[in-house]
Amino acid sequence: MATPTNGHNGSNGHADNSNHGHGSHGDSIKLSSGLQAFETLPAPNPAEIVFTGEEETQIKKYVALYPEKKAAVMRVLWLAQEKFGWLSEETIRLVAKSLSMPEADVFGVASFYTMYFKKPVGKTHLAVCTNISCMLCGGYELYDYIKATYHIGNGDITPDGKLSLEEAECLGSCGTAPMLQVGNDAFIENLTLDKLKTFLKERGL
Ligand code: FES
Repeated sequence: MATPTNGHNGSNGHADNSNHGHGSHGDSIKLSSGLQAFETLPAPNPAEIVFTGEEETQIKKYVALYPEKKAAVMRVLWLAQEKFGWLSEETIRLVAKSLSMPEADVFGVASFYTMYFKKPVGKTHLAVCTNISCMLCGGYELYDYIKATYHIGNGDITPDGKLSLEEAECLGSCGTAPMLQVGNDAFIENLTLDKLKTFLKERGL
């Protein structure tokens, strides 16, 4: 897969940027999109990565909504993330097993959408878009401001766990760039440095 060049290195601090789009049982799954490399991380307490009977019943209800079992993957990933906070290697495996899907297919869905967290995130998670439209409208200035202010890089969490940062690909709001996604519940369009500072202050950050 080609690596986009935009004058900014887009480094995410991950040493391994190799392109492995597969994942056999028991292996970490790695995938590179050029600017960002994703890989599953192990859960701190793997024994806790299980669905309850109630959750399994809910999954069956999801599955019943679709002609194919695997079509429920986004709902089940969401359920898993709501429960565990992020999608670990064990969680991907659990979702795959519950839907009788290959782990790599589940990971493919999880890695495509920024709303699925592939690693732990802070209480407030900021995803700053730096794709073309946002880059041209100051996306990197905003992204770099957060990095410099909180001394964190792409994928990092502040030591107090309050804030995490992600350099995002296009968030689908190019006409109102630059764009900031806050966790999975807010989008701030036409972002400016003043707007960003006000938002951070309001959040007590
Ligand atoms: S390029 Fe940033 S939202 Fe599309």
